[in-house]
Amino acid sequence: MPMRTPVNLEETRPKLAAIHTLIAPGLDAAERVFQEELGSRFPYVQHLVDHCARYQGKRLRPTLVLLTGLACEGLNESHPVLAAVVEMIHVATLVHDDILDESVVRRHAATVNSEWGNESAVLLGDYLFTHAFHLAASLESTRACRWIGRATNLVCEGELLQIHHRGNLELTEADYFKIIEGKTAELTAVSCRLGAAYAGASDDITAAMDEYGRNVGIAFQIADDVLDIWGEERQTGKSLGTDLEKQKLTLPLIRVLAGNDPVAVAAVRRAFTEARAEDRRRLQPILEQTGALEEAWETAKSFVDRALAALERLPENEARHALARLAQFVLRRAN
Ligand code: IPE
Ligand code: IPE
Ligand code: MG
Ligand code: MG
Repeated sequence: MPMRTPVNLEETRPKLAAIHTLIAPGLDAAERVFQEELGSRFPYVQHLVDHCARYQGKRLRPTLVLLTGLACEGLNESHPVLAAVVEMIHVATLVHDDILDESVVRRHAATVNSEWGNESAVLLGDYLFTHAFHLAASLESTRACRWIGRATNLVCEGELLQIHHRGNLELTEADYFKIIEGKTAELTAVSCRLGAAYAGASDDITAAMDEYGRNVGIAFQIADDVLDIWGEERQTGKSLGTDLEKQKLTLPLIRVLAGNDPVAVAAVRRAFTEARAEDRRRLQPILEQTGALEEAWETAKSFVDRALAALERLPENEARHALARLAQFVLRRAN
């Protein structure tokens, strides 16, 4: 019997393209700011920067900044700068994450660590982080620097917590959520909070946008963790199976371990202990049969629902609808 695919493997880009159309000038401006800020007089540094800039990702975080700004009816010239800042922080975390995960492919290209080595990748990540703060400081108020600084602190804490729990088969679901809220949801939350605040939104609306971004981020990471087991590398454009290889327990596996199917529990414990990326395929039927996959998916969906509820505090407009579609997109993405 053919295995049911948990993710809809349609192309991701067309869906995002429709959303991007609404904020196209802002995205283009952010792109220019990104490249300008990172320019270096040293050809080697410029070469590394060019590598990162050439292969664009989904631009989720810049999109969140710009769309919330538009939805709050106050999009202005600070938004493309903020969009470039959050993307820079994001790319810095990816460059460092690929060292930790020993990943070889990112955004359909070689990772910095695999092509130029860990030393260059550590330093390039630092270069991206410091430029992000340098750029944020060009804005009139210090609010962006403070908020982005705090969010980045929490991202790093989340990554540290994850490293601390590496190999821990007893990781609780509560700790899993602390990890993903830090490493992923803080940045999506601050992207939305900045988008709203710099549009002049009230504190109440700004808090609602934080809530939206946080829930989108959590759902996004759960979906990413499912993709790490189910995805196809030619579609995701990044190394997969690294959660297993690096012994990072994720929601579907936590659910199997918490269940009462001794055969499934033993199989997951073995795969986790042996830590081979290719064993992800063998986990697929186990996660399906125990219902752990479906449960993880339902959990992700519940966070999307919370994100959608937060949007109700916004004025009714096209950008608000696009934010709703973006929240739903995180459950359907194939990359
Ligand atoms: C990857 O983020 C890292 C996670 C938080 C899962 P994205 O999937 O947004 O990466 P790009 O920017 O599209 O490459
Ligand atoms: C890392 O999570 C998220 C970051 C904050 C960098 P993952 O390790 O799951 O990200 P991918 O799958 O490599 O993109
Ligand atoms: Mg990774
Ligand atoms: Mg992942």
